[in-house]
Amino acid sequence: MNQRRGVFISFEGIEGTGKTTQAGLLKEFLERKGYTVTLTKEPGGTVISDRIREILLSAEYKEMDPITELLLYFASRRQHIKELIQPALDKGRIVITDRFADSTVAYQGYARGIDLNLINYLSRSVAGGLMPDLTILLDMDVEAGLRRNKGKKFDRLELEAVEFHKRVREGYRILAGEEPERIRLIDSSKGISAVHAEAAEIAAGFLDARFQAG
Ligand SMILES: Nc1ncnc2c1ncn2[C@@H]1O[C@H](COP(=O)(O)OP(=O)(O)OP(=O)(O)O)[C@@H](O)[C@H]1O
Ligand SMILES: [Mg+2]
Repeated sequence: MNQRRGVFISFEGIEGTGKTTQAGLLKEFLERKGYTVTLTKEPGGTVISDRIREILLSAEYKEMDPITELLLYFASRRQHIKELIQPALDKGRIVITDRFADSTVAYQGYARGIDLNLINYLSRSVAGGLMPDLTILLDMDVEAGLRRNKGKKFDRLELEAVEFHKRVREGYRILAGEEPERIRLIDSSKGISAVHAEAAEIAAGFLDARFQAG
């Protein structure tokens, strides 16, 4: 028997691709269709996770060891799942998160070079194997994305070299190739409303199929 639960949607992509913009627009769109939606983000989403986020993103800690960084992401994620994501899914809600597990694989795995087996092991054990039902990957040229973010203060990860961000993008594209059913790639060099229209169509199609099959 199917356990009744909500639907978990994540937005992924490199800096400046429009994740935060599109996650907010998709929430409004789904609410207009009558769904109850919880919008959250990583790292963060709970008081404890937000405190960990401050350490992770502070531009001060240049000495942070890559494995320390990885474990902090997982500490933040575990609390986020236990306190916010899983309870919302148990209530049948739609949860939209601005970044989730694929960020860790792309940034810490493909770009930083940490063993993907370790990351996947931690995802299964520490994060209970929870993965999004649907992931919208916003893909565009790295420099163009970074330019969109110009003017805002750079956090520690955004200070990384362009080459680093190119490896992140490539990592995401590999993931999308491995899981084409779950990860739907959108060209986010288009305007905000064009990207939204595509994301809304993908999400609506997914939800229609899910709830008809329900
Ligand atoms: N499709 C688009 N075309 C042009 N500008 C956009 C588009 N999408 C977002 N923007 C603008 O680009 C900037 C970055 O967008 P946003 O913050 O949504 O990206 P993000 O992926 O969440 O970035 P970050 O990784 O830094 O959180 C914002 O100023 C936003 O208004
Ligand atoms: Mg954002």
